[in-house]
Amino acid sequence: MRVTARARIVGWMLLVAGIALAVAVFATWTFLLKRLDDRVNAELENEVEKLRGYVRTQVAARGGRPPDDVSRLLADYLAVNAPDRWETFFTIVDGAADKITAVAPPARLDTDDGLVRRLAAATRPTATWAESEAGTVRLAVIPVRVADPRPAHLVVAVFYDRQREEIVDAVRVLAIAGVAALGLAGAAGWLVAGRVLAPVRLVRQTAEAISDSSDLTRRLEVTGNDDVAALAATFNHMLDRLERAFAVQREFVDDAGHELRTPITVIRGHLELMGDDPEDRAQTLALVTDELDRMNRIVDDLLTLAKAEQPGFLSIEQVELADLTVSVVAKARALGDRKWRVEQVAEERIAADRQRLTQALMQLAANAVRHTRDGDEIAVGSAVRGGTVELWVSDSGPGVPPEDRERIFGRFVRGGPRSGSQDGAGLGLAIVRSIARAHGGDVHVEDAPIGGARFVITIPLREVA
Ligand SMILES: Nc1ncnc2c1ncn2[C@@H]1O[C@H](COP(=O)(O)OP(=O)(O)OP(=O)(O)O)[C@@H](O)[C@H]1O
Ligand SMILES: [Mg+2]
Repeated sequence: MRVTARARIVGWMLLVAGIALAVAVFATWTFLLKRLDDRVNAELENEVEKLRGYVRTQVAARGGRPPDDVSRLLADYLAVNAPDRWETFFTIVDGAADKITAVAPPARLDTDDGLVRRLAAATRPTATWAESEAGTVRLAVIPVRVADPRPAHLVVAVFYDRQREEIVDAVRVLAIAGVAALGLAGAAGWLVAGRVLAPVRLVRQTAEAISDSSDLTRRLEVTGNDDVAALAATFNHMLDRLERAFAVQREFVDDAGHELRTPITVIRGHLELMGDDPEDRAQTLALVTDELDRMNRIVDDLLTLAKAEQPGFLSIEQVELADLTVSVVAKARALGDRKWRVEQVAEERIAADRQRLTQALMQLAANAVRHTRDGDEIAVGSAVRGGTVELWVSDSGPGVPPEDRERIFGRFVRGGPRSGSQDGAGLGLAIVRSIARAHGGDVHVEDAPIGGARFVITIPLREVA
């Protein structure tokens, strides 16, 4: 089962709040119990003091003579001193229970002979515990000695369990209220978490819907400026890029299919029309071979372009710019009878892919050959300007009109109004651009000083470590 973020948040919240509540209830409980004990003991001490005070005033009222009837003395005391709630007094005279306060106690203690005997044995004020029908009782027994020869005691009893029950009740109410509050907090937390997480859920659902239907045109609604809005915006941004990338890819596949269909149609047409005449056959064979070569070149170029999109396209090594420039001119001479020239060489070693740079320059040289005639001039050069390496091929051909200077770098773009040739597939400059961009640079075309076009590859200078 999947645990939702909502359940997890509320679960943790309730766990923490529950522990806090348990600690609070337990602390209250121990605090109140401790205070009860203190209060009961203070009350007992207070009763001892009150009795002492009473006896002292009685003695003073009789001119310094102690009263001779202890039973009456204590009865009078009980008459003037009423017990508090959950409290009772009684007296013991000569070892037997004598008088009890007028207010009826929760349980009679003076009728418990064993207890009375035990209490009557006290010779000094003593506190003790006893069990009764009304639970545990805290007692203080105070011996009273006056002129009367009979031993007498005043017993102050506090019904401890009754007072404790009040605390139990209070703590129970506290706990119940706490649990109820916890429940409310849980419900509120559930609602709040639901509201907070709703946009996240929306993001998830939209992402699911998109991956199910591969409909990349859908977008999330971005409201507010919080984290969730930022998430949605990032997600939309990613979708923008994906949509663009897919569109480019689709276009690429469409173009490639279209371009490959043309030579196939041509080949099929020739083969269908081929007769039995050996001369005719030889001609058709030459044509078909030519078309197949062209297809082969297109497939190779397409593979190069596809590879350029992937990591590991370049194998970086140490490249001597002077050597590269000179060797490109040497190779390019075979492309056509032109006035080939090394215009300038940079004496620099850079980190680059030598093979790919040669491939790019050879594409530019092939284009230059295609747009010039025998005896025209083609110049190749390299230079380092600032932090940038420039590699160029200039020709004295017709040049590229300004409105075409960006367009011609696209895939399958070829043949401006001034270009008579329809030979190429229009992939050459796209490959040059891919190679330049893989090196972190780019390629552009401008007017050449010698009249035609000058194609310049610029890449950032990365010296060899
Ligand atoms: N040196 C140049 N002078 C004038 N126009 C050029 C030159 N180089 C390229 N172009 C123009 O740019 C177009 C695209 O060139 P690109 O190299 O991409 O394709 P291509 O040469 O036609 O075919 P491919 O290189 O695939 O065989 C060319 O068709 C041409 O119109
Ligand atoms: Mg070309």
